Amino acid sequence: MSKETDELRGHTFDGIEEYDNPLPRWWLGIFWVTIAFALVYVPYVHMAEGNTIADEYRQDMERAAAQLAAERIVWVDDELKTYCANGDGWRASAVATYQVRCAACHRADGGGLVGPAFTDDVALHGGRHGDIARVITDGVPAKGMIAWRKQLSQDQIRDLTCYVHAFRGQPVNEPKARQGAVIASDAPAVAAPIAPAAAAPALPSVP
Ligand code: HEC
Repeated sequence: MSKETDELRGHTFDGIEEYDNPLPRWWLGIFWVTIAFALVYVPYVHMAEGNTIADEYRQDMERAAAQLAAERIVWVDDELKTYCANGDGWRASAVATYQVRCAACHRADGGGLVGPAFTDDVALHGGRHGDIARVITDGVPAKGMIAWRKQLSQDQIRDLTCYVHAFRGQPVNEPKARQGAVIASDAPAVAAPIAPAAAAPALPSVP
């Protein structure tokens, strides 16, 4: 600071005298710039059309929700049921996919291993075609059932749905213990929605 900054201001409070110490120019410069910035920023962002951080957050969330909704595959139970009942054009595709993707956990004969059996009269997530297709599509990530929407086409999932549904009542040796609620006349065994695929997948527990 230069010498002339150390001038006494010439008045006294209770015997205390003051020096006149102006703030450095660079400091004042920044001070004025922040004021000028605020005069533009506050009216634009908070009163005009500018976006606050909260606005940007909301827009990001809306964009993400729209994207999720666009990716969501909607299964219509009746359509699936009609498709599966109409011949067995689905079988070849379903068997091929099932052997490679599903048999390791649900057993080739549907008797269940890591995942539940398909041959019994109970289900964890409902026994209708629509319920089955939804579980295959969205998975149950927290329980170790993968969401297959990324790996399989919609047609493959549809064909698998017919196949899984067709396992019910098939005789198998030593099926896995029954899991879930009894499937009554093709009604959903469980009304509870499956956790969305977006939920953080938990590591499968090691037995
Ligand atoms: C890594 C092991 C694993 C693989 C591979 C796997 N699943 Fe699963 N699956 C599970 C587990 C575990 C569950 C039980 C989820 C729960 O407890 O909610 C399950 C549940 C299901 C259910 C719901 C059963 C019910 O009782 O409601 C269906 C349907 C199903 N899987 C179909 C398939 C199909 C089709 C494939 C192949 C494309 C497949 N799974 C591959 C582990 C697997």
